[in-house]
Amino acid sequence: MRVRTATGHAPGKIILFGEHAVVYGQPAIAAPLLAVQVRVEAAPAAPDAGLTIALPALNTTIAVPDLTESSESPLFDALAYPAQLALRALRVTAPPDLALTVRSTIPVASGLGSGAALAAAIIRAVCAALDSPIADDALNPLVYEVEKRHHGTPSGLDNTTIVYERPVYFVRGAPMERVAVARPVTLLVADSGISSSTRVTVGDVRALHEADPARIDPVLARIGALVHEARAALETGALVYLGALMDKNHALLDVLTVSSAELDRLCAAARDAGALGAKFSGGGRGGNVIALVDAAHADPVAAALREAGAVSVLQTTVEPSG
Ligand code: PMV
Repeated sequence: MRVRTATGHAPGKIILFGEHAVVYGQPAIAAPLLAVQVRVEAAPAAPDAGLTIALPALNTTIAVPDLTESSESPLFDALAYPAQLALRALRVTAPPDLALTVRSTIPVASGLGSGAALAAAIIRAVCAALDSPIADDALNPLVYEVEKRHHGTPSGLDNTTIVYERPVYFVRGAPMERVAVARPVTLLVADSGISSSTRVTVGDVRALHEADPARIDPVLARIGALVHEARAALETGALVYLGALMDKNHALLDVLTVSSAELDRLCAAARDAGALGAKFSGGGRGGNVIALVDAAHADPVAAALREAGAVSVLQTTVEPSG
């Protein structure tokens, strides 16, 4: 089989509103985080070398086994499984002689979508190397398959935002809708340095819901109503209001037990330093907080976040779109 040199990439993502409630059918809004990326280079390998995936950052190379072979390891799920899905989609029955090299600037297990971005970039690289570049509409369900292995019951929000690289208004099982952002939205993304498993926090919210649906259903519905308002605020450029909605969303996530003292502290520090609003983003209990800032407050808020313990602070702008 002829293979050629190719690359595949994909960005990170941040959830602006609606995480966790989205699992229960409420809407959520997410945006790509272009400041971080996965980049995969594919190059032809020696005859009979098979398909290998190297991760120089971990000093690791894995071989992608026969397409029917599976394994329970996290590295298999993250690297080999997406490559297998790409080959299956192309109806290729045996691994080609292809060497992939993966480089990522997306921190893992911190709610920035590293798993979905890794899968998207690997599948893009494999398909392009086999001279069949994959369209986003075909890629999205494949990345969702990979997400299922990572998270169990993912909503589909991560893969959709990362594959299409645009702000999305997302309801589980419904076609993705675009969000027509009216004014630039500048956010600071502060990493708490605490890694946290989305599978665990999603499971804990499920247990809470099962134990007391009469108490939890209204919380989920309030998050959904707030996401609806947030979409209107994004589409009209009402940024002060948007900030207030972020604060409310964070408080409701706290009721779902998925915030933590560290995340609360980071959000409070951002607000005290002049952020328009702040919340955690993603699965919770670790990972990142996002703070909405105007130009005058970006630097002082970033400094306050570092002071409060953030291990890194990225700045990103969601640009106006039609
Ligand atoms: O931790 P992340 O970035 O994968 O986000 C999880 C978002 C949840 O709503 C908690 C789960 C989901 O599947 O949408």
